[in-house]
Amino acid sequence: MSHDAQESSAPTDLARWWNRTRYQLYAPIYDWVARPMEDGRRRAIERLSLTGDERILILGSGPGSDLEYLPAEASITALDAAPAMVRRTRERAEALDMDVEARVGDAQTVPFDDDAFDVVLLHLILSVVPNPTAVATEAARVLTPEGRVSIYDKFIPEATEPSFLRRALNPVARFLFSDLTYQLEPILAHADLGVVDPKESALGGLYTIAQAARREEKTVQRANSS
Ligand SMILES: C[S@@+](CC[C@H](N)C(=O)[O-])C[C@H]1O[C@@H](n2cnc3c(N)ncnc32)[C@H](O)[C@@H]1O
Repeated sequence: MSHDAQESSAPTDLARWWNRTRYQLYAPIYDWVARPMEDGRRRAIERLSLTGDERILILGSGPGSDLEYLPAEASITALDAAPAMVRRTRERAEALDMDVEARVGDAQTVPFDDDAFDVVLLHLILSVVPNPTAVATEAARVLTPEGRVSIYDKFIPEATEPSFLRRALNPVARFLFSDLTYQLEPILAHADLGVVDPKESALGGLYTIAQAARREEKTVQRANSS
C-alpha cells in the first residue's frame, strides 16, 4: 500500500470503538492465540540488548506479553486502548514481580511528554490501529534523540504491491485482526524514523522484526562514523 493510502486512514469514532471492542473480546484468549508469535517477540527484544536502565514504553501492550522478556528493574510504562488488556498487563506484572505503570489510552495520541522514553515497543500494533502513521509519529515524539523503537508486525516488503491473495483477504483480516497490506518504511518515514538494523523475518516471513531510530540521530551517527 502506498504512503498516501496508509496516511489517509483517518480513524472514525466507529473505527476507534470497534478497534477497542474487539480486543476487549479477545483479551481472555489472547495469550493462547498469540503463542506462535512468542519467538519473534523474544528475538525483537533481545536485539535491543537492554541493560535495565532504560525507560520503556509499550504501546498497545495487550495482556503484557512483552514483560517476561524485559529487565525487571527497567522503568516500564504500558498503554492499551482496551481496559481488559490493561488489567491483564497489571496482573502479569504482579505475577512477574515487576513494577509497571499500565494505563488505558490511545497509542495514536500518547499522553506522555516529548523525549520521555529510551525505548518504545511497537509489537503487533501498527497493523492493528486505524492510523499507524499517528502511532509511529507519537513513538518518535516521546523517544529520546538516541532512543530506539522495536517493531514486530506484519508488513509487505518495501516498494512492493500486496499480492492478490493479501488484497482479497484484507477486508476480513482488517476487520477482525489487522491489516495485511502495509509497508513499514513509509509509515516510519512519515514519523521521521528510519530502520537502523537489518530487518529479520519471523513466522515464515509473514512477520518482520525491525529497530528504528529518529532520523536526525541516524544522520549524526553516520556523520560521526565517517
Ligand atoms: C495484536 S494486540 C498486540 C498486543 C501486544 N503488543 C503483543 O505484542 O502481543 C494489539 C493490541 O493493541 C491494542 N490497541 C488497539 N488499538 C489501540 C490504540 N489505538 N491505542 C492503544 N492500544 C491499542 C489492542 O487493545 C490490543 O491489546
